[in-house]
Amino acid sequence: MTDPQNFYAEVGGAPVFDKLVSRFYEEVAADDVLLPLYPEKDLGPAEVRLRMFLEQYWGGPRTYSDQRGHPRLRMRHNPYKIGPIERDAWLRCMRIAVDEAGFDDAHREQIWQYMTYAAASMQNSDF
Ligand code: HEM
Repeated sequence: MTDPQNFYAEVGGAPVFDKLVSRFYEEVAADDVLLPLYPEKDLGPAEVRLRMFLEQYWGGPRTYSDQRGHPRLRMRHNPYKIGPIERDAWLRCMRIAVDEAGFDDAHREQIWQYMTYAAASMQNSDF
């Protein structure tokens, strides 16, 4: 398994993360469970934040922390009720994005495992 710090460079850097996150938000925009959670009608700013965060996590530029400080992702999700339905909707969108991003099998498996773990840890409601 790749060290997350090398992942960004190994998979092709910015264009790949751009494709991944824009595809994810295309799905969010059409998702009846997720779309109502987004306070801003424009999903663009949320897309930029998720892209910066993922780039940083996987060893790319540290722009997320420069602009947003410590991620504290669980805390930042507190305003939203995230139960099993929201978690599964998020993963459904992310599955499509991951599958279409052009990763080789090993990198796809690695980032998908992370996404399922991260989505479960963001859950803050049992229903
Ligand atoms: C922000 C929903 C999981 C990363 C947000 C926002 C919503 C949301 C509604 C606010 C939009 C905005 O930034 O304007 C959800 C739901 C999830 C989920 C329903 C289901 C499990 C995740 C996961 C990650 C993540 C697993 C990371 C791998 C982020 C980031 C932000 C964010 C980086 C922006 C935080 C900031 O700097 O303010 N999410 N999220 N989310 N989410 Fe999630």
